[in-house]
Order: sequence, then structure tokens, then C-alpha cells
Amino acid sequence: MSKEQAEREKQLAGEAAVSYIRSGMTVGLGTGSTVYYAIKKLGELVRDGLSIQGIPTSEQTHQLATNEQIPLIGFSQTTDIDITIDGADEINPQLDMIKGGGGALLREKVVASMSKETIIVADSSKLVTHLGKFPLPVEVTPFGWQTVAKKIKTLGVPVALRQQDEQILITDNQMYILDCHFGTIEDPSALESQLNNIPGLVINGLFINMATRVLIGENNIVKELIATDKGTP
Ligand code: A5P
Repeated sequence: MSKEQAEREKQLAGEAAVSYIRSGMTVGLGTGSTVYYAIKKLGELVRDGLSIQGIPTSEQTHQLATNEQIPLIGFSQTTDIDITIDGADEINPQLDMIKGGGGALLREKVVASMSKETIIVADSSKLVTHLGKFPLPVEVTPFGWQTVAKKIKTLGVPVALRQQDEQILITDNQMYILDCHFGTIEDPSALESQLNNIPGLVINGLFINMATRVLIGENNIVKELIATDKGTP
């Protein structure tokens, strides 16, 4: 797919998600280049009178939403979110996902867990048969990351400490990220639990049973997959 086509599909999906937002809602604002279009559209609607409050999943989204004049609240102000709109790096037919390519996985997972509905927006390249070709991000404490990496490597998986501009990447939560090259993940749910048992591993990028609705830009249309469709790609 060309870059232009991918961008068109992202815009279609991102903007489509906004039609689910109503005045009075608390809205989780995901991170990434697809959600970007949803936030821009939400900004237009807010400036036209839509009354919502957003919870951003990253400093980057906080900045974008602030520029768009979307009122924001923090994690200390609520435990419940009506709808979250977020992106994904891979989505399988069960609507399980790999997320965290943009490094915002910890807040994204907390926000998804607080949400009655989580709408995922993506271009058509994100749909896969099996998760794992995209390296699975895991957020780890800066101390002891080596022992987490060693444990994951014992599964036969190459692990890379994420870098940016030749420096170790530091997340919004002052953590590091390990990108784990699984190749194919046969049982995402089992792996999620296994990873959660490693001390020092703060969060992993497997989002299981979290998406309630997936909107995929495909050519010039938006394809909708809902959680009750599980198993039918
Ligand atoms: C951010 O950490 C990620 O989970 C993003 O939601 C994901 O990487 C999708 O981003 P794009 O929409 O930019 O592909």
C-alpha cells in the first residue's frame, strides 16, 4: 500500500470514530498517527459546541488535544471513561492487538481498562492473521531491565532496548521499552499472563479482549468489526 493510501485510510477510520462521541462524555484519547485524525475532528466539534472531557494517553496527545482546545482531565479525576479512541499496531481476527509502537502502552492500557467502549482505528495494513510480526513492546523499569530481557530471551525471542537518536528511549512514565521479536504469537492470552509475571516488567503491549469496536479504513470505505463478531475477520 502506498503511503498516501495508508494516510487516507487512517483519516477515514480516525474521523469515523468521532461519530460515536456525544456531549457529556468522558473520552479516552489514544496516541499515534491514526488517532491524530480523530482528535483533530473532535477539536472541530468541541469548538462547535460539543461538550466533552478528554483523558490523554501521552504527553504528545496532551499537547495535540490542548492545541485543539479539548478540555482535559487527569487520572485522579475519574475512574470511568465512556469511550476511548485509540490506534493499534496489529489486530488479529479475535480483535486482540499489539500496541505500543509509539511508546504509550502503559497509559493506553490503563485508559482502555477504564473504558466502557474502546474503539480502535487503523488502516487496513494493521489486520493480521497472527500477532507477532510487529515486535511486541514491553515497558520495563530502568533498573533491572537486563533481567527482564534475559527472561524473555529464554523464550527464544530476540529483544532490543528501544533507542531514539542513539539514546535509550525514556517513556512518559520514565521507563524503558524492550521490543520483543516474537515472529508469531500462537496464544496471545497465555503470553500476556506469562509476561505479567516477570518482576520489573511494568506492562506489555498485548491488548486482549479490550477492543469493543474496530474501524478499519479500507480503500475508500470504513469497515467495522465489533467484539461480538469475534472470530469473523
Ligand atoms: C502508541 O503507543 C501505540 O499503541 C499506537 O496506538 C499504535 O502504535 C498505532 O499508532 P499509529 O496509528 O501511528 O500506527
